[in-house]
Amino acid sequence: MATGISPPSGRKRNGGVVSYNLEYHGKMPQREVLKIEPTEGRTVNIGETRDRLLYGDNLGILLSLLQDKSVCGRVRCVYIDPPYATSMAFVDRDVQHAYSDTLEGAAYIEFLRRRLIVLRELLADDGSIFVHLDQNMAFEAKIIMDEVFGRCNFRNFITRAKCNPKNYTRRQFGNVSDYILFYTKNGESVWHRPCLRWKPDRMREEYPCVDQATGRRYKKVPLHAPGTRNGETGTAWKGRMPPAGKHWQYRPSKLEQLDRAGEIYWSPSGNPRRKVYFDARKGIPIQDIWLGLKDAHNQNIRVTGYPTEKNFDLLRRIIRATTNPGDWVVDCFCGSGTTLEAARELGRNFIGIDNSDPAISASVRRLASGREKMGDFVGKNKSSVSRPAQTTLFE
Ligand SMILES: C[S@@+](CC[C@H](N)C(=O)[O-])C[C@H]1O[C@@H](n2cnc3c(N)ncnc32)[C@H](O)[C@@H]1O
Repeated sequence: MATGISPPSGRKRNGGVVSYNLEYHGKMPQREVLKIEPTEGRTVNIGETRDRLLYGDNLGILLSLLQDKSVCGRVRCVYIDPPYATSMAFVDRDVQHAYSDTLEGAAYIEFLRRRLIVLRELLADDGSIFVHLDQNMAFEAKIIMDEVFGRCNFRNFITRAKCNPKNYTRRQFGNVSDYILFYTKNGESVWHRPCLRWKPDRMREEYPCVDQATGRRYKKVPLHAPGTRNGETGTAWKGRMPPAGKHWQYRPSKLEQLDRAGEIYWSPSGNPRRKVYFDARKGIPIQDIWLGLKDAHNQNIRVTGYPTEKNFDLLRRIIRATTNPGDWVVDCFCGSGTTLEAARELGRNFIGIDNSDPAISASVRRLASGREKMGDFVGKNKSSVSRPAQTTLFE
């Protein structure tokens, strides 16, 4: 693995400034986007709750939320899974038209950019945004997000395995990945590190040592890092200098403290290493390749039967990591309501928006039935599908 040497004091490259732009016909200045006429949309009846499900074009509705003091600047997490510029029309299990994905090129980018500009305003200072796309537009969207949110607020380009391997006959590798662009509004954001549970074999392999005195399992890691330093971390500790071209990871006072606490292992030749105890770890921190979160491979086994319905646990992971109970979560391309249900299950409040009738119906059904599978509703008398006490969808 290549080990780069970071500049002293953790300075960011270019200070995070974007020195390039994606230029195209029809790009509206940001301040003009925020002056577009807001529209209220229609409120869908989902019962007595602070949560909101809104029907209509999301740009106007998002702009109207800018006037709402209980929402604007208070949204802790935005997740969107917009159309992907596939030039396709999607139908649900009833072969009913769900939505069209026909915008392409500059028109598509500007469609997305305008919504991102407004979503940024709605986010709290410690909020996060996740934009789910595939290989078609993810790279153009990254440049636009650098522009809207600032490159220094880019956190991850998450690769997700979306489906089982494909038996492609084309002369290329099978495409099983899609991507989630993760940005924060500012440097400090709500973050609860998601971790996976250790499997016993893997734990023994990674933490092979056992402390004789306490029986605690640990691994040994270096106490120095690449790069030289002129400050305290570049000086001698217990008469030892860091190896050539390296510096101590901690100041000598902290190294002293770790040693007193029995957290330093001394090799027979007198080399110090840090003991990292297994029981001090929450689990295996999740990295930026997400496996085990595939979408259902056909509509029969989806929860709602809505096309492009996303994996529920994917949304749970995102919301848990970046919000606290009671926070606002917004999904303005909510489709079948995966984000809304995950937010609700975790005790967060949601605002969902969509401009498709089947999407709104699927969201309503899901909010009424939770994670119960509803894909089989096709062919059955639809009135047998449980719905919230509602006579009309809209108020
Ligand atoms: C990829 S699907 C989202 C699926 C969703 N994540 C789920 O788990 O079911 C995209 C959704 O965006 C909606 N949509 C597209 N353009 C929209 C717009 N301008 N305003 C509101 N919703 C829109 C479509 O109706 C569709 O339901």
